[in-house]
This record gives sequence, structure tokens and C-alpha cells, in this order.
Amino acid sequence: MNRFYKDVVRGLSADAKYLDSKYFYDKEGDKLFTEIMACPEYYPTRCEMEIFSQQSTAISRLFKQYGEELELVELGAGDATKSIHLLRSLVEDRVNFTYYPIDISSNVIKQLEDKLPLALPGLQVKGLNGEYFEMLKQLGNTPGKRKVVLFLGSNIGNIPSDGVNAFCKELRRYLNKGDLAFIGFDLKKDPRTILAAYNDKGGITRRFNLNLLHRINNELGADFDLSGFEHYPVYDPGTGTCKSYLVSLAEQRVCVGDTECFDFKEGEPIHTEISQKYAVAQTDELAAATGFKPVKHLFDSRHWFLDAVWECV
Ligand code: AVI
Repeated sequence: MNRFYKDVVRGLSADAKYLDSKYFYDKEGDKLFTEIMACPEYYPTRCEMEIFSQQSTAISRLFKQYGEELELVELGAGDATKSIHLLRSLVEDRVNFTYYPIDISSNVIKQLEDKLPLALPGLQVKGLNGEYFEMLKQLGNTPGKRKVVLFLGSNIGNIPSDGVNAFCKELRRYLNKGDLAFIGFDLKKDPRTILAAYNDKGGITRRFNLNLLHRINNELGADFDLSGFEHYPVYDPGTGTCKSYLVSLAEQRVCVGDTECFDFKEGEPIHTEISQKYAVAQTDELAAATGFKPVKHLFDSRHWFLDAVWECV
């Protein structure tokens, strides 16, 4: 039985129904996420872009202090629009390094391997197509080479709070003492700014969430009536957790394939995504609890976003 089907059935069978946000990203979902990143309310991408476009020289110098030979690994590299600034600085700084973008999409990896060496002559790129930790395992250890692992875009925020320690500990297991992790965290700020980022006026985030139901219809033969669900995001400034829901607008039954049917009450939610926002001190505590030591905080000019550099201890 396919994994997507199993996960959907498990999520919709739960007392509090949920769907895993990793399934947002089919072809249409990728397109909608690109639109989200460009929409006026979604600030995280622009904040991190500011850090990379303005501070890449300083970041490159910092990395150089850790070793003359580096393996720069990026988890979920996408189109590398942010990291390209850093790659350029590393090339200009004559750091001896290879860039290993890891992505679940083979298409993404191919594009990066084709395009990056043309944009940055001399750059060595070796794409790894697969799951993060499987690819890190495959990469193994090269004596004398320090690893630097980039995990950008506040992707860490999509990991539920009860799983984030385990994620960082697992990452640490694939690294050696003295290696670095470079992690993007979206920070707590005016709750209205955060909520607006997940509830844009143009309705792109709404379509992004509803597209998940469309994908389940298409790929798993389900019969979700998209007009029977509405996107509803909430942000709790106490916990820093932004949650997105798809709420059933009526009592209805939805079948996935021929055998699995699920009853919805009017007003019943499906939880689709968590986007955790952090205080700087919480990120330091997360580092300390999982085998790292924070060595540098890089902020955008408004201090809305943090790229934290952690050293493995
Ligand atoms: C990919 N991830 C960091 C985004 C976020 O902010 O949680 C996904 C997203 N969901 C709605 N808007 C953007």
C-alpha cells in the first residue's frame, strides 16, 4: 500500500483529524508555495534573503575558520536562491568546498547540478536525491573535511514541538565534533504580522491548503468536495505556534478509494500544518539540549528571522 495513502487514512481516522504538511508539495503545491513566498504578507523568505544577500561574506569567513576543506550540505535545497549568495562568497574567498544539495525531488537536483556551475564557475556540486538523513548517511565521513549543514527557510518550524529535539539529535548523529549546523528560525513577533503571513489577502495560502484535498482526490481517488472546507489559520503568541486547519463547513462523508470513508461534523477541523515561531533563547536551549553550541546569531534588520550557527560539541 502506498505511503501517502496510509498516512492519509491514519490522519483522517484519528479523533482529531490531521494531514501531514509534507504532502502539500505536489506540482501545483510547489507552484503555490512559490507564489506564497512572493506575496506581500509572507515575510520569512525576504528576511532570510536579506541575511544571505548582505551577510554572506561574513558567513563565509566564519566557515573558513572551521576548516580549509568543507562539505556544504543543504537539506531541502529547492532552487538555492538564498544559498547561491553564500556559494558565491565561498568561491570568491577561495574556500575548498563541495556543495551537496539534498532534495526529495530529482528534478530539483538535476536543475541545480546543471545551472549552478554555469552561474558560479569552479563550483563543485554533487546533488543527493532522497530523504535528508538517508542522504547524510550515504555521504558518510571524509577525514579532514568539516561538514556544514544548512537547513534554511524556517523549515524546522514545520516539525511539531514534540519532534524537534529528536530531529536535531538525529542530525547531530550524522555529524562530528566541530562540524556546523546553520538553521533558519522564524522568530516571535507581532502576532498580527505572523497570522497575516498564513492568511494572505490574495488567498494563496488558502489555495495551498485546499490543494492538499485536491491532491488526495487526484492521486488516491477520494471525493473531497473542496467547497465544503474552509482554510482557517490560528496563531497563539503564548506558545509561538501557528496552526492551519481545513474546517468542514457541513456534516459530510468523504471516501478515499473504495473502502475507507470518513464522517465529518459541521465545524470539524483537519489540522494541516504547524509553523512554529521561536524566541532566540529557545533556539539556544534547543542547541544545548541536542549536542550543539550556538556560536553565531545572524538577524535581518528587523530581527524577525534568525539564522543560527551551531557547532557540534
Ligand atoms: C515551508 N515552510 C517553512 C512554510 C512555513 O512558513 O511554514 C510553509 C508555508 N505554509 C504556509 N505558508 C508557508
